[in-house]
Parts: sequence; structure tokens; C-alpha cells
Amino acid sequence: MSPSNSFTRRQFVNTSTAAVFVSNLAGILSFPQLPARNGAAAQSRVIIDTDPGVDDAFALLLAMRSPELKIEAITPVAGNVPLDLTLPNALRMVEIAGRTDIPVAAGAKTPLTRRLVTAAYAHGENGLGGAVFPEPKTKPVDEPAAELICRIARKYPGEVTLITIGPLTNIAAALAVDSNLAGNIRGLVMMGGSLSGGNITPAAEFNIYVDPEAGRMVFQSGIPITMVGLDVTRKTTLTEEHFKQLSSGKSAVSQAAAKIARNAIDHTRSLGFLVGPNMHDSLAVTAFLDPSILTFENYYVDVEVKGELTAGQTLGYSPTSGDLRRTPEKQKQAESRMVVRGSAPTLAGTKDSPVIRDRWVPNARVAVNLDSSRFFDLLIARLSS
Ligand code: RIB
Ligand code: CA
Repeated sequence: MSPSNSFTRRQFVNTSTAAVFVSNLAGILSFPQLPARNGAAAQSRVIIDTDPGVDDAFALLLAMRSPELKIEAITPVAGNVPLDLTLPNALRMVEIAGRTDIPVAAGAKTPLTRRLVTAAYAHGENGLGGAVFPEPKTKPVDEPAAELICRIARKYPGEVTLITIGPLTNIAAALAVDSNLAGNIRGLVMMGGSLSGGNITPAAEFNIYVDPEAGRMVFQSGIPITMVGLDVTRKTTLTEEHFKQLSSGKSAVSQAAAKIARNAIDHTRSLGFLVGPNMHDSLAVTAFLDPSILTFENYYVDVEVKGELTAGQTLGYSPTSGDLRRTPEKQKQAESRMVVRGSAPTLAGTKDSPVIRDRWVPNARVAVNLDSSRFFDLLIARLSS
């Protein structure tokens, strides 16, 4: 994503953040129904934004083996590894799945305002755990990811769900390109965030950590969000048994998944981890395919963007979370009175705690539990069939 020359990246963000925030505040206050697959339709239109990445590769293969999905585009972004690896890795996956009909459009090389921090230590230098596949022959489309996302959303207003399984830079760029995007999009299902501690810092989950400014723009965009965070994806560790089932599959998809699994499990063990790799991103795809596998609660979620230690932390505000539980009649009063409070004011600051939102309106459906065996039954069956 490259802002026009007259703008620095920071100016671009400030301008677009404000524009997105103001233009979609109404979206937050009149909170629409959260995304669910359009069960009535034969297929649900999705765009998958991704930073392949071992678990992204599994999620892309799962999505391409799922007849319920009409994948309108795949939009790689820099994250686990730089874009010059995530882009060809995405192209490799569409070739392996025999789905070169799906347009792949290159997205952002860097976060909106920060330097790129990758997770090559976890995903291997090539992003696929070290599993080597031939160079892809398929080329990406010329259109940049942000433009393609906006064009598809305009073509199918109210029908397209964004499934985001990497940093949110492309989505933030698309929101800045077209101020009507949030109104055109049916919903967004993200692998991202955590209400129970991070994985790259104690506070932040990797996807939001890489680009907190983009994360905040997305949570404040007014798009109905389903957040599939570490709270549930920590329970999706790939095992030797899963590898055996994939190995026994005859298809190119099953064999490719087995090869990535073998390399990723060995790489994870070589780092001294006793469990993992986790199938974080496949759980986000599954949350769209079959939400009944997870349990959700409504939260107002915002993103820390200033923290010296906590940038990228997703904070969930709910009148019923933790020790806030009350008797039913008191609960209703609490919900109507609850404000979203910011950090304690400095001496130069406001007299009282700053109020980020003067009333509690949920902007996200957060996954708080899952049935791991149902998840893996679906994932492994679809990859190895
Ligand atoms: O924190 C997990 C997320 O970060 C997953 O999307 C994984 O692919 C990495 O991008
Ligand atoms: Ca990812």
C-alpha cells in the first residue's frame, strides 16, 4: 500500500483514521447483526486476507476445499514473513488446490506507520515451516489488494464477508480508499487479538501487534466483527495423529498439508516447544463455516496504539465480564450506564478518567470457547478427503 507522495505514511493514517472513525461512528452506535454465513444462499462470498504462514496455508486450503464459500479474492499482506514470500506462498496454495481461478492481489509490504516485525522464527524463513514447493507459475492480478477489496464489495453490496488471518493493513488501506466500504461489507471474521494475553508480547497477539493502527481502524469501522483470538486458538495444536491422517489422504491438497505439517511440527519441536503449531487461522475460517463449533460473547473491543509495552493489545469491555456479574435487574441498569473508560489522567490531563465511549455498544462477537474435536474433525476431513 503506498500513500500518495504528498503524504507521509503517518499523515495518511491520521487522515484516514479520522475519516474512517467519523464516517462509521453511526455504524457502531446502530450495531447491526453480526456476520454469519448466509445460509439461505448456495454459497457465501468471501475475501481472504492472509500472510502465509504455516497456519494460513492450512486455512487457505481448507477454504478452497469448502464448497460453501465463493472465494472472490485472496489478498496477501506482509506479516509472518515479508510480502515477497507471502504473495508467492498464497499463489502456491491456489495452484496446489487447483483454484487458479481465484484472483490473488498483492497487498501491503509494510504496516501503516511501523516497521514490519515478522514471525519467521515460528514459520520458518520461507513461511511454510521450511516445506519447499515449486515456484508458482500463476501471477497475481495487477490491481492492488485494497482496490480489489473495494471493487468486489461495491459489486456485491452487503454480500461479502472479509476473513482476515494476518495483520489488518490491507483492510485499513481499503477503508481509507473507499469510505463506503464498511457499509458495503456484510461482516469481518478475524483471526486476531486476545482477551487473555498475547503471544508475541504478554499483551498483544501477533496480527494486531504488527499493525495496531490498522487494528484500531477496523474495530472502529462499524463493520460487524467476529473476533477469533488466542482465547480459543490456543486449543488448536496440530498433532502427529493429524499428520498421519493427512499423509494417508491421496489428494494434492492432503499431501501438501502433510508436507507442511511435517516440517512445521519438526520446526516447532526444534525450537523446544512441546505443543504446536496451532491452527489459529483455520479456526477463523471454521468460525464462518460452522459457528456452532465456538461459543461467543459480545464485547466492545478497542486496540492499544500508544503503549510502550502494550501496543497491539485488544481490550474487551463488557458489563457482564469477570467480577461485573450482577443480579438481572441491576445488570440492565449497568449495561445502560456503562462507559468505556481510558487510562487514569496525568496531572496535565482531564480532571476525571477520560471516557472513550459514553455508552457500551458492542462492536465484536468474541469467541470464548470451542469444541476442539469438532474443529479438527472438520479441518482434517476436508483437507484429506
Ligand atoms: O497470532 C497468530 C496469528 O499470527 C496467525 O494468523 C499466524 O498466522 C500469525 O499470522
Ligand atoms: Ca496468519
